[in-house]
Amino acid sequence: YLADIPLGAPDAILGIAENFKKCTDPNKVNVCIGAYRDENGKPWILPSVRAAEKIMMDDENENKEYASIAGDAAYVEQAIKFAYGQDCDLSVIAAVQTLSGTGACRIGGEFLSKFFPVKKIYIPDPTWGNHIAIFQEAGMEVVRYRYYNRATNGLDLEGMLEDITNAPDGAVVLLHACAHNPTGCDPTKEQWKTISDLIKKKNLQVFFDSAYQGFASGDAEADAFALRYFVEEGHNVMLAQSFAKNFGLYGERCGTLSFVTNDADEKERVLSQVKKIIRPMYSSPPIHGSSIVRTVLTDEQLTKQYYEECAFMANRIGSMRKLLVDELKKAGSTHDWSHITSQIGMFAYTGMNSDMCDELTSKSSIFLTRDGRISLAGLNENNVSYVAKAIHAVTDG
Ligand code: LMR
Repeated sequence: YLADIPLGAPDAILGIAENFKKCTDPNKVNVCIGAYRDENGKPWILPSVRAAEKIMMDDENENKEYASIAGDAAYVEQAIKFAYGQDCDLSVIAAVQTLSGTGACRIGGEFLSKFFPVKKIYIPDPTWGNHIAIFQEAGMEVVRYRYYNRATNGLDLEGMLEDITNAPDGAVVLLHACAHNPTGCDPTKEQWKTISDLIKKKNLQVFFDSAYQGFASGDAEADAFALRYFVEEGHNVMLAQSFAKNFGLYGERCGTLSFVTNDADEKERVLSQVKKIIRPMYSSPPIHGSSIVRTVLTDEQLTKQYYEECAFMANRIGSMRKLLVDELKKAGSTHDWSHITSQIGMFAYTGMNSDMCDELTSKSSIFLTRDGRISLAGLNENNVSYVAKAIHAVTDG
């Protein structure tokens, strides 16, 4: 039977990351994947994470037993407070540990397609490429809403509101909680209010994806604005939360899925069904990453240190935005690159087309996604001028 299996297309993000690994050019640059790199281009383990691991190693109460289906309850509580705020009402938030944000989206998608009457999810255009496959594989119909105006390099609020207005009652709307991937363009507080009002009026289900809390402003608390505002406004939101980027726990696969329910009874019922989805899929989540997050967030000193380290990563990325634009000018580019410095989060959505991206890869071994997105974390003082010169060459050619 295997003889007839067709070859699948490589993943739009991770496939390029594989090509980077294979490339032997000593000047190669990886700006493809959204993963933090230090000023020498190396992966960075946060010192607060290291400290937590040391504490765990010496703690005789730590073990390698299975977590329960819903994960480590103490971790989940800390994670939920990190997102919704220390004073959130835990008695109505149904939450489980997940395999990072992808796992949370997938379990959430399975839940929606099993229990929701309208199996349609509205997803921004553009969005993180994996969103589409995740929700389709979960049995949801994916519909796109306008989000980004390429002419102004800003939010297409009018288009977004119009498309959401046309969604059927009871449909689901996916919103990036902050630092929109790939555009780096978020609604302002006023615009979030307008979006919230419309969604409430239309009686739509909100599904927040929060993968970059802390990377938008450098302050993880401030970055929770949209989520907390929607909850305050009475939305029964769903939330996919990832600790991959903000704790640097990529390979640990550590996140949560949560639902703001109406009461404790509803919470129990939702939780029971989510567990029924998880058990036949992977039984229970891995425990190392969640133990790290729990250890950090239950220790006042480590929490303080963690927030500083998260801000440090966001600031280094911010300085790379400015440096990239400076270097483009230095290289002779006369294009308006100001959108790069006005965008936020981990990415620059440059506006380069797929041909330009291909040329960057083939001529200069600069690996980026073909939508023109650059992960700024892959830049540093040693490679930014090389990248800027190469971008100038393909955009002014
Ligand atoms: C990205 O957008 O590069 C990250 O979210 C990594 C991934 O899994 O695609």
